[in-house]
Amino acid sequence: MLGTPKEVVFDRKEIERRCEEYFSVYDLTQERTRKMCEAKTEHSRIVASNCENIARGLNFDRYDTDLAWIIGELHDFGRFGQIVVTKTFRDTDKWNHAHLGASLLFKHELVDDLISNWDEVDEEDRVVMEKAVYHHSDFRLPEDLTPRERTFCTLIQEADQTDIFRTIVKSGWETIYGHTKEEILDSDFSDAIVQAFFCHELADYSKRTTYAGYHLAHIALCFGLKSKAARHRVAEQGYLEQMMDIEFTHPAVEEKFQQITAEVRNYLYE
Ligand SMILES: [Fe+2]
Repeated sequence: MLGTPKEVVFDRKEIERRCEEYFSVYDLTQERTRKMCEAKTEHSRIVASNCENIARGLNFDRYDTDLAWIIGELHDFGRFGQIVVTKTFRDTDKWNHAHLGASLLFKHELVDDLISNWDEVDEEDRVVMEKAVYHHSDFRLPEDLTPRERTFCTLIQEADQTDIFRTIVKSGWETIYGHTKEEILDSDFSDAIVQAFFCHELADYSKRTTYAGYHLAHIALCFGLKSKAARHRVAEQGYLEQMMDIEFTHPAVEEKFQQITAEVRNYLYE
């Protein structure tokens, strides 16, 4: 429970239908971008369900559980425009998918088209949803969040990270990274990335300067899984293990990688 229960009832089936309607607009684009959009449509659905499961585990009431589910459904809204324009999942100052999604939904009010009773949602929760979407891929959440905002921001980050490994494995390296597996295995990664693994921290995306660094920054997302349940779920799914089941071309790089994967396994199974 997160304060006084609220009485708004959401029509989740309708919200899901309207979101998919929006997402499907992007099916018209070229094959690679279409595949990227399809991957993100499926990801949104699964993250929404992860949000619901985490919310139930935390004994949220019905309204807060719905709110968590909606945030999951909406969190990557900005991905679709980013994919079509930039053909990558790479965030830049200009094309940050989390900021773009928050802007489209809450500044340009597309959320009003997706949630028919949006006018019943109070100001506090409008801000909670906006901040959860805006900050969902932050390296570190801002200090000035209210407890309620922090709860939902943390929840969406965990729900998102739990599915990211499946998305990468299922979509394939070229779809996600825009580079072949060979190109990635032939490259190196920076000390800043290695450091993140030994400190059990998310890798600062600005420090991933090589093809391999990009892949490793995704593996390091496991350090965002703060609850044991989420870590066990990821371990059980096996997708993270598949991402680590690779061999770098250069022996010195492979040696660093072995140390990193040992660290990941300790963290997941501890
Ligand atoms: Fe995202």
